[in-house]
Amino acid sequence: MGIFSFGKGLVSIGLDIGTNTFRVAQLKSVSGSPTLVNYGSIKIPVGAVVEGEVLDVEAVSRSLADLWKKIGLRNKGVIIGVANQKVVVRLVELPYMEKDELKGAIQYQAQDYIPIPVEEAILDFQVVGEFVGENEARMMEVLLVAAQKDMIQNNVIAVENAGLKAEVIDVSSFAVIRSLLEAPSVVPAEGEEEAIALINIGAGITNIVVVEKGIPRFTRVTSLAGNTFTRALEESLSISFDEAEELKVTAGLSSLQEKDKKRGKKSTKQAERIKAAQETLGSEVGKFVAEIRRSFDYYLSQRSQVKGIRRVILSGGGARMSNLTSHLESGLQTTVELGHPLQKVQVAPGLSREELEQEELSLAICIGLALRRFEE
Ligand SMILES: Nc1ncnc2c1ncn2[C@@H]1O[C@H](COP(=O)(O)OP(=O)(O)OP(=O)(O)O)[C@@H](O)[C@H]1O
Ligand SMILES: [Mg+2]
Repeated sequence: MGIFSFGKGLVSIGLDIGTNTFRVAQLKSVSGSPTLVNYGSIKIPVGAVVEGEVLDVEAVSRSLADLWKKIGLRNKGVIIGVANQKVVVRLVELPYMEKDELKGAIQYQAQDYIPIPVEEAILDFQVVGEFVGENEARMMEVLLVAAQKDMIQNNVIAVENAGLKAEVIDVSSFAVIRSLLEAPSVVPAEGEEEAIALINIGAGITNIVVVEKGIPRFTRVTSLAGNTFTRALEESLSISFDEAEELKVTAGLSSLQEKDKKRGKKSTKQAERIKAAQETLGSEVGKFVAEIRRSFDYYLSQRSQVKGIRRVILSGGGARMSNLTSHLESGLQTTVELGHPLQKVQVAPGLSREELEQEELSLAICIGLALRRFEE
């Protein structure tokens, strides 16, 4: 099993082990282009996966076996994605060295860069660039990934107990890059670096990744995600989680445009409820914006050549909240748009395009994982 193996594998089934839902996407090469030939999802028991970590291995296995049965998938090998506090990605600068030497050097120096004890971590790395440093020294940039062994092990066991095989383990934010961005062909204007931030808002986890020329320069996960908004409504309006979830979807955020605001001024009980919900959601968005800003500020403090983040692309079910893009645009002072993972693939005739489109934002991770097979 190639844990984190960056190379091209043969598996083309992406499995997103989310907090609410597991999603699986199978891609095949049809006339040379990646084609979605099978897709399915299943709701999982609450508490089985928390903040991106598999806690109840047995429950996860059962749900996976059910999912395979549900869509009649025969293939067993999968690419899984991990995103939680126990996996970190760092871009580090090292003096130039050959690959064999690099492996030892990484093992030796990794502790300086990662918050996980090296003896409890699985490490992987990829050289992403070279540059000339101080005193004309030949330097290289290395993308270092470290994941806590036990956390990975829980994923692997859950998958194996379902009769499947985790052939490759990937970082979920790398999958988001693959499914939302074009290959790094869009060369920015001379002398100017273009930074794009991708934010995947799930139920329990939000992934933030800042990309320059296709390379992840900054990644971070936060537990401020879809569930945070639901819980805020649950508390402020003293309703159940399920009621809060429904209200979140119906109410969404208030429109920032005056003319739309006036239209909904009827003061029925339901209108009052929506208004109260929108107020709560609005203040939660404020906290969300502050969290994203902190990440952006940190990233920018490390990258003096980059002027700012000019574009933000959202994905994940949480991005479906109405008016979220305009609230983020005003809060972050950047262009914010929704991603389109389905644009990266063809859809086989046997699948319902309409149903897939409804869920499109939630497909970013599973499609991106499966796309790894098609990377150059
Ligand atoms: N129309 C909507 N308005 C607001 N929120 C929505 C809407 N549709 C879905 N969501 C939210 O999206 C979240 C689910 O997103 P998604 O399916 O991407 O998460 P997940 O993969 O199960 O979780 P995670 O990625 O955290 O592991 C839930 O919090 C849900 O309430
Ligand atoms: Mg998810």
